[in-house]
Amino acid sequence: MILSEHHEKYRQKIREFALAEIAPHAQRLDEQQVFPHEHIPKLNEMGLLGMVVPEKYGGYFTDTLEYAIAVEEVSRVCGSTGIILAAHNSLCTYPIYQFGTEEQKKKYLPPVCREGELGSFGLTEPSAGSDAAGTKSTAVKEGDKWILNGTKCFITNATVGTTFVMTAVTDKSKGAKGITAFILKSGTPGFTVGKKENKMGLRGSDTAFLHFDGVEIPDEDRLGPEGDGFKEFMMTLDGGRISIGSLGLGLAQGALDCALEYAKTHEENGRPIGDRQNIQFKLADMSMQIEAARNFVYEAALAKDSGKKFTRLSATAKLYASEAGRYASYWAGQILGDNGYTERYPVERIYRDVKLCEIGEGTSEIQRLVISRELLRGTS
Ligand code: CAA
Repeated sequence: MILSEHHEKYRQKIREFALAEIAPHAQRLDEQQVFPHEHIPKLNEMGLLGMVVPEKYGGYFTDTLEYAIAVEEVSRVCGSTGIILAAHNSLCTYPIYQFGTEEQKKKYLPPVCREGELGSFGLTEPSAGSDAAGTKSTAVKEGDKWILNGTKCFITNATVGTTFVMTAVTDKSKGAKGITAFILKSGTPGFTVGKKENKMGLRGSDTAFLHFDGVEIPDEDRLGPEGDGFKEFMMTLDGGRISIGSLGLGLAQGALDCALEYAKTHEENGRPIGDRQNIQFKLADMSMQIEAARNFVYEAALAKDSGKKFTRLSATAKLYASEAGRYASYWAGQILGDNGYTERYPVERIYRDVKLCEIGEGTSEIQRLVISRELLRGTS
């Protein structure tokens, strides 16, 4: 897709920022499994923490294409920082903006959009992953407050977030329509966060359990009407899947960047290995898949802003970009040979990082289910 001059300039700006501020730390974050606290004020200064929220509520929203480009360019050099941005913007700030009351938006959005605080999203539970409607956490109403009990798992930004949106069952008899969403602040009595998971990839990003033990939430912190939580979170994931598509796309491009440079500079028998047709064919296939992924992701971003239902397009973008990322990182590894198997090049990290894209915010199997359901119902 040919971008407008505005979007090309924006890409360049984020690319320069990412190369200067994020890239030099990517390998260390992975090796040491440390959260990049030092990146957060810089991301905030660049306006990257308020990308899906308008200025009125403290954000910097221009359009979803800018957001997709930003996550892509950051992920191109550091997947961990990419997922931090994606989860924060799409899964916390967006649902508060989209489903919150005026008071909730004014209270909760400025700190997470422009004051450097991070947000998080609690949907998945130990026995409710792909079957998100199988939520077991409960919220029972007592007067003007709710008493919350349960556990959430695999939550991005869990130990570093200050603002959480999460779901709980408020009427078991109603199935998916008996689930309600809430906003919760860290430090609320009874709310504890587990320790950072030891993950295969995206090891700088922070993933942990959330535990709720008799947590009191005032009714004014209910996010949307009672019973609408599941639908709100599905709509939130429609947007989130664009950003996971951007994450996969950026990681794929990072793998191609590395393979290209290696093919041009690594010599065997006195010639760069890029002179060989078998290497050239693989570079071409990687590039083709990446361009296609980019088109899917950008199309989904444009569709989101058009106001039409974009469920199928965002699932398609995520699915395709995740698989393009797997393909690109695998073949980059083959091109680099033994070097690609070491930490001297980012390819082995990307190979591990990109696996999350086929799992988080709905597995690739769930994306196929969502796409085919939308096709069969003719809904998007
Ligand atoms: N937009 C609007 N409404 C939607 C919707 C959407 N995208 N998806 C579902 N709904 C509505 C339906 O229309 C339905 O309402 P009506 O009865 O009024 O029509 C209601 O929600 C229930 O929908 P379904 O019957 O389709 O629900 P289901 O139980 O069959 O589940 C599913 C559908 C697609 C499989 C869903 O469970 C799903 O997406 N699962 C995957 C969950 C997921 O992606 N988890 C990721 C967690 S986040 C994460 O990973 C974070 C991270 O940090 C990386």
